Amino acid sequence: MRTTTPDDFSGIIALTEETYPGSPPWSTAQLATHRQVFPDGQFVAIDTATGGVVGMAASLIVLWDDYDFDSSWRDFTDAGYFRNHDPDHGHTLYGAEVMVSPGRRGLGIGKAIYAARLALAERLGLWRIRAGARLRGYHRHAPRLTAREYTDRVVRGTLTDATLSFQLRQGFQVLGVVPNYLAHDPESLGWAAVIEWRNPAFSPPPDRDPRSTDYARRGVVST
Ligand SMILES: CC(C)(COP(=O)(O)OP(=O)(O)OC[C@H]1O[C@@H](n2cnc3c(N)ncnc32)[C@H](O)[C@@H]1OP(=O)(O)O)[C@@H](O)C(=O)NCCC(=O)NCCS
Repeated sequence: MRTTTPDDFSGIIALTEETYPGSPPWSTAQLATHRQVFPDGQFVAIDTATGGVVGMAASLIVLWDDYDFDSSWRDFTDAGYFRNHDPDHGHTLYGAEVMVSPGRRGLGIGKAIYAARLALAERLGLWRIRAGARLRGYHRHAPRLTAREYTDRVVRGTLTDATLSFQLRQGFQVLGVVPNYLAHDPESLGWAAVIEWRNPAFSPPPDRDPRSTDYARRGVVST
């Protein structure tokens, strides 16, 4: 695990094509901007035998109040360019991407990437990490469950979602469920769970939103 360099860009683009076939991959221009604005926030996992990229994560810092709770991935990431990275005012690390090569999943690479992200948030003194967890398995349940019902079941452990179950295992909590997060995602149908990891050094965070959500009432989130 290390921070991303320009030599990794072609490997990241190939990894994106493998992970999201049919969707436009990260572009060299986007990856270059990420490094330019926030080099410490970009990680790759490298296979030491081949030197190939087998995982990556991309993050930026945002001031949460600049966004609505149901803002889309495009809004939070400035269409994937991170020019909205705001280290001077922001206290939230926003997880814009995490992926592991399909042939290398289930081996702890995602967990190692998230550990690096958590360590970064602690090192920078950020209050939390937030992200939209695309509900990757929702398309299989959409005919009979709302996205909210689906998320409830994943949180309770009666259903497994390939993305959200992983993130819950990394210590994240669900704050809510939002539509239209990722346009044209055939798996989530656009639905995402807004998830949060709180830096224990700032729990509760100074700007805690006192609103009680359904998730909070059911004890999933402790406000
Ligand atoms: C989500 C993803 C990054 C996980 O990476 P990974 O390397 O397979 O995850 P790990 O092997 O480190 O697993 C870490 C933990 O999550 C759990 N987990 C991982 N995938 C899981 C799944 N499909 N279902 C349930 N639990 C899962 C593991 O059991 C493990 O639990 P443990 O901590 O108790 O050992 C990977 O599946 C991926 O690239 N998905 C496609 C891209 C994507 O959807 N990204 C998220 C965008 S919001």
